[in-house]
Amino acid sequence: MPSQTVIDAVSGFDLTDPAVLQDPYPALAALREAAPVIWYEPSHQWLVTRHRDVHAALRDRRMGRSYEHRYTHAEFGRPEPDPRWDAFRRHERWNLLSLEPPDHTRIRSLISRAFTPVSITSLRPSMEATAARLLASARERDTFDLLADYAQPYSVAVICELLGIPASEQHRLLKWSHDIVKMYELTGSDAQRAGASQAAEEFMEFVRSHITRCRSQPDDGLVSRLVTAHDDGHQLTDDEIVCTVIVLLNAGHEATVNTMGNGVNALLSHPDEWRRVVNGSVRAATAVEELLRFDAPLQLFERWVLDEGVVIGGQAIPVGAEIAMLFGSANRDPRKWERPDEFRVDRGDASHIVFGGGIHFCIGAPLARMELDVALTALVSTFPNLHVVAKPQFHDAFVIRGLTALEVRA
Ligand code: HEM
Repeated sequence: MPSQTVIDAVSGFDLTDPAVLQDPYPALAALREAAPVIWYEPSHQWLVTRHRDVHAALRDRRMGRSYEHRYTHAEFGRPEPDPRWDAFRRHERWNLLSLEPPDHTRIRSLISRAFTPVSITSLRPSMEATAARLLASARERDTFDLLADYAQPYSVAVICELLGIPASEQHRLLKWSHDIVKMYELTGSDAQRAGASQAAEEFMEFVRSHITRCRSQPDDGLVSRLVTAHDDGHQLTDDEIVCTVIVLLNAGHEATVNTMGNGVNALLSHPDEWRRVVNGSVRAATAVEELLRFDAPLQLFERWVLDEGVVIGGQAIPVGAEIAMLFGSANRDPRKWERPDEFRVDRGDASHIVFGGGIHFCIGAPLARMELDVALTALVSTFPNLHVVAKPQFHDAFVIRGLTALEVRA
């Protein structure tokens, strides 16, 4: 029988409660203090609440993002996938996040060859130019939305440049990407799932034609490099490239944009901390680690238990069960962090769990860190007196945590 503390903490953790979605941290703290692992009936998952256990679970090879490489749906006690969302499944088929070894190892190693540190560092000058251009145009307005007018166009421009996709396509890509990520919310509707599937279909078609163009006229972009990437003579197939490009485009901007929004919101709500970045006593690159820890843009990641013997926080978790690791909770765990609810830009501790860990560790983490460093450096130097003009609201979503807008004045 669960204790009364656990029952109270779970009943306070209602993912449809707008107050919890606006500020999940008090409910997360109650969960975390009640128990390291808690059964959550609405999503049929074991919630993992503490830093040490999330850190270990990410590295535990007895669990996987997928089970389909080992079991049929029937063997795993899961329903057959809904045929209405077939297009969505196809766009995920070869996506790194849906794969486990050996396919994951093969595809990740091919992508890493095209996604080198040199190709990332070479983007810095154009990131700086994009940030300066967007801030110059924001300066002409009385107020601007830090997300729609800065973070979003900036981040999409960076990922398009990395991939070699024309900037003129940005609007279509954004629309597809926003529709697609709705599939990952715990409380999505059928209309959202249909929208996500339709977007996946259109996105795949777009990437296919881009691949054809890259074959006939290769350029310096990542897609052209993926087309020619080879490892001991094995090339990526077109289906593998399509799924890879889509995951890079989706994973490559949404979380970065939300980190900017959540992070600048935290900075502007703590004016002394903002000043420390403005006056250079704390470098933007150092502050970025605290922005990531304090209000993570991705709050929950799941794993299936594939093998016997998994015990988390003293709780045995059977094969076929699913765990949900609460990153935002882990990043505020007082067992790991001194005064975790304090926002301190000089903390300089990169051991937060924001980019995951183990074999699925975010391949774009170095790019995201550089992007955030450049964007924040440009922002503080252009607008040292920036302040918020309207109380921001978070989207009604738990997994992908971001603001609807962040209206600011210079
Ligand atoms: C602040 C920004 C970002 C955050 C917070 C973030 C977070 C994450 C996390 C938590 C994972 C691991 C998921 C898991 O273990 O289940 C991941 C994986 C991944 N990320 Fe990121 N990411 C960010 C930016 C990027 C960027 C800029 C790119 C691409 C350019 C990218 C591409 C990927 C890819 C391809 C994977 C899958 C890796 C694999 O499965 O081997 N991410 N990301």
